[in-house]
Amino acid sequence: MDDREEILKRVKEEVIALKASPLYKDRVENNYFPVIGEGDHNAKIMFVGEAPGQNEAKTGRPFVGRAGKVLDELLKSIGIERKDVYITNIVKDRPPGNRDPLPEEINIYAPFLDRQISAIKPKVIATLGRFSMQYVMTRYGLDFEVEGISRIHGQVFDTTIEGESVKVVPLYHPAAAIYNQHLLDTLKEDFKILAKL
Ligand code: URA
Repeated sequence: MDDREEILKRVKEEVIALKASPLYKDRVENNYFPVIGEGDHNAKIMFVGEAPGQNEAKTGRPFVGRAGKVLDELLKSIGIERKDVYITNIVKDRPPGNRDPLPEEINIYAPFLDRQISAIKPKVIATLGRFSMQYVMTRYGLDFEVEGISRIHGQVFDTTIEGESVKVVPLYHPAAAIYNQHLLDTLKEDFKILAKL
């Protein structure tokens, strides 16, 4: 097994065993799965969402519920197949009732995301929603660029991760577009930038 596969395997095993997480008990009590991430381990584009919802926790797969349908539609609109990208979240277990993730939850799971980024080495990281935007931009040297998502969505920020050039593109969360045609149109426009990159 090469380094990349080894790191991803370890991340998976460690998240599965993460009893220290405040969300672990809930996972076990509900027979939920952690959602580690899925897609091409050599992907050029990595999508980072927030946290699993109920459908994701029931299946162990990211973005399979209603927000996932929107993401699928957006990918299709730019001719990119889901299997060719990597999709994950910052928080790997479901926050109860789909509430926003708490800072301590982000703190405990974010190092796993960092290791996934380090293993997969994407050229483009597309953040979905304000939590992943905030985390990824702050973590990877773009803290001075962070503003409200309504101001910086669809912009391309250049940074360097472990010596490699990476473009970070903050996007609205697909769930926000479920009942909002205007946001869906905005997301579609922003996705065209990903296709260009
Ligand atoms: N919302 C997210 O942020 N991630 C998922 O996997 C599903 C819904």
